[in-house]
Amino acid sequence: MRLFRKGISMRTALVVGNWKMNGESAANRVLVAELIESLAQQPLEGVVVGICPPSVYLSSIAEQLNGSSVALGAQTLNEHDSGAYTGEVSAAMLRDVGCSMVIVGHSERRSLYAETDEQVAAKTLAALRSGLMPLVCVGETLAQRESGEALVVVANQLRAALSAVDAEEFERLVVAYEPVWAIGTGKTASPEQAQEVHAHIRAVLSELAGVAGQRVQVLYGGSVNAANAAELFAMPDIDGGLIGGASLKANDFIAICRTAAVAG
Ligand code: PGA
Repeated sequence: MRLFRKGISMRTALVVGNWKMNGESAANRVLVAELIESLAQQPLEGVVVGICPPSVYLSSIAEQLNGSSVALGAQTLNEHDSGAYTGEVSAAMLRDVGCSMVIVGHSERRSLYAETDEQVAAKTLAALRSGLMPLVCVGETLAQRESGEALVVVANQLRAALSAVDAEEFERLVVAYEPVWAIGTGKTASPEQAQEVHAHIRAVLSELAGVAGQRVQVLYGGSVNAANAAELFAMPDIDGGLIGGASLKANDFIAICRTAAVAG
């Protein structure tokens, strides 16, 4: 992890839990309470921690998080501000219930719900318009990696998502590199594989937004756990993680967050 001068403050690490479609009220309360208690007892230096529960639980978890340092995010949003979009949730609604961030373009949204690059771009803009921090996900499939296209695929996804974003807005967004073949599979990218892509992402971000692009936090996601987080977070261009399965167990998630603090 590389700390970068940003005005007077340094670029902090970020670790975000993506709960996906898991959890129910009673278990959520316990998980969130454990997280709050652990972070209150032993606060983390230089790491922001966030969780993205299913949208129906956001309001109650926002209440539980009130006064704690844990940030709340959603797993997706609709790109429109309001209207006849049955079943959808807008950026303003997410803000209204206490979210500060939202995952955009997760590979499960892209592959299972046919989310296109154009929608990812529109959702990114919608999040920024409402003051939510978008966590823009990019990543190649196994076939794309094996045919040597990983860097091109990721760069194209990034350009498609961010070309319409003003350079000064880049300070309000985060990028997550999540190789599709590593998500939920137990197969993690090696630190070197991840670093190669992260360095490329940083180059594309600089090309898109100059110095502001350099300051963007770039997270790694894909089977991160308490055992492999340290070597990933030690890489110079990895600024934290987007954590799926391991974010559902308080001890594992906290251990990963603490690893990010040490790596910083
Ligand atoms: P995983 O998921 O950690 O369970 O692989 C990561 C993600 O999909 O964000």
